[in-house]
Amino acid sequence: MTVILTSSSLALAASTSFNVVALGAKGDGRTDSTRAFLSAWSSACASTSTATTIYVPPGRYLLNRVLFSGQYCKGHVTFRIDGTLVAPSNYHVLASIGKWITFAGVRGVSIYGGTIDGQGTGLWACKAAGKNCPFGATSLEFTYSRGITISGLTSMNSQVFHIVIHNCMNVNLQGVQVTASGNSPNTDGIHVEASTGVTITRAAIKTGDDCISIGPGTTNLWMENINCGPGHGISIGSLGKAMNEQGVQNVTVKTATFTGSQNGVRIKTWARSSKGYVKGVLFEDITMNNAQNPIIIDQNYCPHNQGCPGQVSGVKISDVVYKNIRGTSASQVAMKFDCSRKAPCSGIVLDNVDLTYQNKPALSSCTSADGSASGLVHPSSCLAA
Ligand SMILES: *[C@@H]1O[C@H](CO)[C@@H](O)[C@H](O)[C@H]1NC(C)=O
Repeated sequence: MTVILTSSSLALAASTSFNVVALGAKGDGRTDSTRAFLSAWSSACASTSTATTIYVPPGRYLLNRVLFSGQYCKGHVTFRIDGTLVAPSNYHVLASIGKWITFAGVRGVSIYGGTIDGQGTGLWACKAAGKNCPFGATSLEFTYSRGITISGLTSMNSQVFHIVIHNCMNVNLQGVQVTASGNSPNTDGIHVEASTGVTITRAAIKTGDDCISIGPGTTNLWMENINCGPGHGISIGSLGKAMNEQGVQNVTVKTATFTGSQNGVRIKTWARSSKGYVKGVLFEDITMNNAQNPIIIDQNYCPHNQGCPGQVSGVKISDVVYKNIRGTSASQVAMKFDCSRKAPCSGIVLDNVDLTYQNKPALSSCTSADGSASGLVHPSSCLAA
């Protein structure tokens, strides 16, 4: 007898699902489920079906360091997560590696739902006590990957960065929630670096460092419907860490609310020579609820004033538009452009900006900043024409 498989009969059998519990994972919060997740990944990667899913049922799954490598993947893999992935409670385990869950070199991976709990509170306490603590581990990283969707994921209490997108193309983050204490150090919500075509929509981020931070080599980044606070705002930078650094270009923040955050929209560079640049940025339709520094360009960035390079920034900042920005500032200087003497900011545009400070007039401050203002602008613009 001869069996002939037509393409339509193949398509009928084309959906495959791997349940991590069937592969040995236990949702009891204490059994190490790392091997079950890795075995689900290698099976899913080997699958040639058109819809391959890894399913994580409700429960708490203890995961050690996991590296999901795309090297041997045949097709797209979707994670459907109804449970919580939990990092080891001893922070040294992951901190010694610096990473927890990493996807490397994958194409067409999607994550729907789920919570990842980095259990970072012990490390934050160590740092707060001024002890000799490790830096910590990133909770979730995508690197050298493309065509990624992360939808409805919650990341809580990472040791340091929650989600990092590094060297990637076409990444969609939708409805991501980040929660960590407002004084947890270096717990950036989403960090994008050396990536193009990243979109972040409907994100709610409460954390102790930048809600979203944008590193060198980021282009075509779109952020829309973002709630930030507590946190350090949405920051391009810090840039100018090195002489030969890639630029940041075409970044949009549209419809965002900053509540009690240290900054609103910020561009920050170290004061040292660099070939880096920032060009083509739009901040539009933004509400400030008592943000400390609602609008700020800081080219003398040096937190805690320690190890400051003490030079002049070489990072050239140009074509940055602030449009329809209103609300309250928690400090009197609501608008600050502290630009480089060597590479002054140019093409800064203020279009309908209305920021108030308690019942006193708010102030603006400009150093080496050129641009224009239109519509109502309060406090009044100090940009040089
Ligand atoms: C800027 O980025 C957006 C996505 O954020 C993209 O749609 C647009 O084409 C980019 N513009 C240019 C000139 O590349």
